Amino acid sequence: MHPITKAIRTQVPRTNEMEHSSPLFLTSSFCFDNAEDMRAAFADETDDNIYSRFSNPNVQEFVDRICALEGAEAGYATASGMSAVFASFMALLKSGDHLLSCNAIFGSTHTVVTKILPKYGIEYTYVEAGNVSSWEKAIRPNTKMIYLETPTNPGLDIIDLEEVASLARKHNLILNVDNCFATPVGQRPLELGADLVVHSATKWIDGQGRVLGGVIAGRKDLIKDIYLFCRSTGPALSAFNAWILSKSLETLDVRMERHAINAHQLAKALEHHPKITWLKYPFLASHPHHRIALKQMKNGGGILCFELAGGLESGRKFLDSLQLLSLTANLGDSRSIASHPASTTHAKLSEQERLAVNITPGLIRISAGLEYADDLLQDILQALEKC
Ligand SMILES: Cc1ncc(COP(=O)(O)O)c(C=O)c1O
Repeated sequence: MHPITKAIRTQVPRTNEMEHSSPLFLTSSFCFDNAEDMRAAFADETDDNIYSRFSNPNVQEFVDRICALEGAEAGYATASGMSAVFASFMALLKSGDHLLSCNAIFGSTHTVVTKILPKYGIEYTYVEAGNVSSWEKAIRPNTKMIYLETPTNPGLDIIDLEEVASLARKHNLILNVDNCFATPVGQRPLELGADLVVHSATKWIDGQGRVLGGVIAGRKDLIKDIYLFCRSTGPALSAFNAWILSKSLETLDVRMERHAINAHQLAKALEHHPKITWLKYPFLASHPHHRIALKQMKNGGGILCFELAGGLESGRKFLDSLQLLSLTANLGDSRSIASHPASTTHAKLSEQERLAVNITPGLIRISAGLEYADDLLQDILQALEKC
């Protein structure tokens, strides 16, 4: 069965009510008929639900669907993308270990890697996203994991997953990939040799800007350690959010197709605009990693980014001039969103620090929604005229 069919048809067992859509199991805990059944569940001799911090039918349905889409052996869902990222580090790394990551990663992940992990004795080295052949030099005897995003947020660098996977295999490292931008219907890192994928389900998986969620999927032995860490530390996904996110997975493939068509159309129309210094979209031939994108992605995804010739002040003017696109701290919504990292998410960093993580002064990120592309283009063009 195709993974998309399998994901759409994977469902919580039907109750006596004979419902078609999955019911919502809003319960903190689950009952047992007798002491022996309860003992067996606590002894891990059965898979019975005990407590919703450990497992819940809605959460399990969401995880099973993600596993079908990613081709994963197992998974665990968390309350947000960041709790998925954090759990994958804390469950699998210990004091004295070394993490290899990229200088191009999401801002909160950057904070975790550079400020929080060192407090627990976990060292890190950043390597350049665009130059995988230089990564081997940074591997140390205590390196345990490679963590990367592809495409990266917000710079849209594409990293060759097969190349990194063969490096990880050679040095016996865990390859952990944030697959948030491409989504499981646009890219399958596990098939290309990764051991784990993490997602912010808050983005394209929800796709309508309603709830937070995260998920980790991959090798069963690694997921078991992540599950044991989460079961005791408590970043569980709520049943309600899981119910929302699971239903959203039924439409993810068709939604992503349309998001990608819109983003590609905008990228083509804006690429040579005089107020834009450069524009990146993975499926444009001008993208520096276009060849890799074609090899590992089904489409170019829903995000494009560009640099405004006028720098920081132009970025602010651009946001102020938009009439249709939303100014909001999210991406992956049915409604298009524009953001200017230098004056918002990364404003607290010095210019030097921003450049070190590839945030240039006039960088604009567009998350293409499901509106008509021409309407989006007209809005962006009139805003460009004013900056
Ligand atoms: C690539 C990437 N990873 C992780 C996260 C964190 O996800 P959440 O906001 O759901 O915690 C984000 C959020 O924007 C993201 O873009």
